[in-house]
Amino acid sequence: MKKEKILVIGACGQIGVELTLALRKIYGGSNVVASDLREENDLLKGTGPYVSIDVMNKEMLHVQVIRQNITQVYLLAAILSATGEKNPPLAWHLNTQSLLNVLDIAKEEKLSKVYWPSSIAVFGPTSPKENCPQQTIIEPTTVYGISKYAGEFWCNYFYHRYGVDVRSIRYPGLISYKSAPGGGTTDYAIEIYHEAKEKKKYTSFLEADTKLPMMYMPDAIRATIELMEAPADKLTVRTSYNLAAMSFSPKEIAGSIQKSIPEFQITYKPDYRQQIANSWPQSIDDAQARVDWGWKHEYDLDKMTQDMLQNI
Ligand code: NAD
Ligand code: SER
Repeated sequence: MKKEKILVIGACGQIGVELTLALRKIYGGSNVVASDLREENDLLKGTGPYVSIDVMNKEMLHVQVIRQNITQVYLLAAILSATGEKNPPLAWHLNTQSLLNVLDIAKEEKLSKVYWPSSIAVFGPTSPKENCPQQTIIEPTTVYGISKYAGEFWCNYFYHRYGVDVRSIRYPGLISYKSAPGGGTTDYAIEIYHEAKEKKKYTSFLEADTKLPMMYMPDAIRATIELMEAPADKLTVRTSYNLAAMSFSPKEIAGSIQKSIPEFQITYKPDYRQQIANSWPQSIDDAQARVDWGWKHEYDLDKMTQDMLQNI
């Protein structure tokens, strides 16, 4: 078992629950402290320690890091794209201040590593739509995207200026069944599976042909752990790595579901999230992650559909 003591902040969210459980398998339950503003998620109960932490309270966070002898932090607390547009100042404040709090404490306590996710939302309408490269025009138009892009450069700054080993991935839309999504534009691709099983029909808030980059949660969790375990000298990107697995539209995911549930019907009623989706690339070039730390995805659309429909 590896000698690290990990703090996961935002452990009760869509990614946090599964990442915490995966880290506990590797490092041992008692060496991974889960924390959140919310009550402990049922799936985490009995698998390791849980503390209530508001990441915006820097002093309390610092006390916990010292008290629990933390050596690594995974910061997952954030407000996602769709919810962010409802309260831009709050999204900016939480998404950037939480990161600055963690990076400052990491610097002071000389933590061995920090993980902080960025998103495909850093890209905007002027970025290439297809195979969007690691380095390209980046002009985000959502507050979420702006906060992620600023965050990427804070990570880069703390790495180069203070030697904080902070690592990051620009996740695509993540699809999972274990814990509920937190208010993203890609959440339709989770809702659709639940409604397909329960009601055999779904009304999509994105148009039929809106293609977006997506990934199944097991791939995202494995990518995160592989990046964190990669030798530091292999990493050439200290802002955030592009990462990809698949791209599909509402029409295509519906087609994949119809292979198992032929009577499933989809209709379309686009709302304010359509504009957010229109600003993002349709596919991502993740060649740098594949070269630097050997990233390889496992799940395509049909493989994910089968697993989602079996497990929901
Ligand atoms: P989520 O909304 O499901 O979970 C976030 C968690 O943070 C929640 O449990 C929430 O209670 C907690 N939180 C909020 N404010 C907090 C605070 N002040 N102190 C402590 N905890 C707080 O989000 P998620 O989908 O799990 O995303 C995690 C990270 O991954 C975020 O940075 C997000 O931007 C990024 N990301 C997610 C996706 C995706 O599709 N889910 C895609 C790209 C990037
Ligand atoms: N899935 C996320 C969102 O839609 C992308 O970061 O907000």
